[in-house]
Amino acid sequence: MSGTFDAVTGKITAPGILARKFASASNGSSRKIVALAAYDYPTAQLIDDAGVDIVLVGDSLGMVVLGSKNTLSVTVDETVYHTRAVRRGIWRALLVADMPYGSYHLGDADAVRNALRLVKEAGAEAVKVEGGERRVDRIARLVEADIPVMGHIGLTPQSVHSMGGFRVQGKTIDAAERLLRDARAVEAAGAFSIVLECIPRELAAEITRELRIPTIGIGAGRDCDGQILVLHDLIGLSLGRAPRFARRYANVAETISRAVGEYVQDVRIGAFPTDAESYELPADVREVLSAGRFEKNICV
Ligand code: KIV
Repeated sequence: MSGTFDAVTGKITAPGILARKFASASNGSSRKIVALAAYDYPTAQLIDDAGVDIVLVGDSLGMVVLGSKNTLSVTVDETVYHTRAVRRGIWRALLVADMPYGSYHLGDADAVRNALRLVKEAGAEAVKVEGGERRVDRIARLVEADIPVMGHIGLTPQSVHSMGGFRVQGKTIDAAERLLRDARAVEAAGAFSIVLECIPRELAAEITRELRIPTIGIGAGRDCDGQILVLHDLIGLSLGRAPRFARRYANVAETISRAVGEYVQDVRIGAFPTDAESYELPADVREVLSAGRFEKNICV
């Protein structure tokens, strides 16, 4: 897959992800792009080692690890903080940081300033921006500043209030046509890829056929060029009801609960720590201590 990653270092780049759209599977590797949203150093390292192509520090951060009801309260400072941690954990995957609500809504200059913080202070290699036709100029301005942009249309969680909740999008002819226009606009603005969230799979397939940039689906069916999930949904660590599209591959919440429950029990009954889990004095010092001469010896 020429262009997928830097041939010398193996590092995945934004142009490499773009090239995946038309890469052949002739060398046996799939051109499907695998992406995950993650927010900290240890999980970033684990998923990079597991071969994920793109790690997104999504603003789902607000809901998944900060306990908010939606993504709207996430700030640029919080995104910088978490992106830095993820940066330390990955070397191969492309690192994309979400532009939080309010960080690109006030004008081009403000958007570029905030995106530059994510690149310069946090080490992001691309940013993600929600919205279609109405974001064209903003996306173009970021691209012009040499910041690769991932688009995001369909269910855009930052529009939760104007959409009236988290709902599947594009189910009427009008809505489907609007999403097609949005997708074309994001591509024309210079984005290197686009997330399609919660749209009917037939529509996602049509957008995927039409665009020359890769589509990365979440709740958008199997015909997208790639898939993205939130790590905590995949490992069973998101509390509350998981969306229908989030396949759970593990039950880490149960593992944590069981482990902590056993720890609580062991401390209470004196079974933790054992001698092997603590340190001992050298014999000569122990002898002084047990002879009651310890304080005197130390102080002299
Ligand atoms: O914030 C996020 O994690 C996202 C992905 C789920 C696409 O936007």
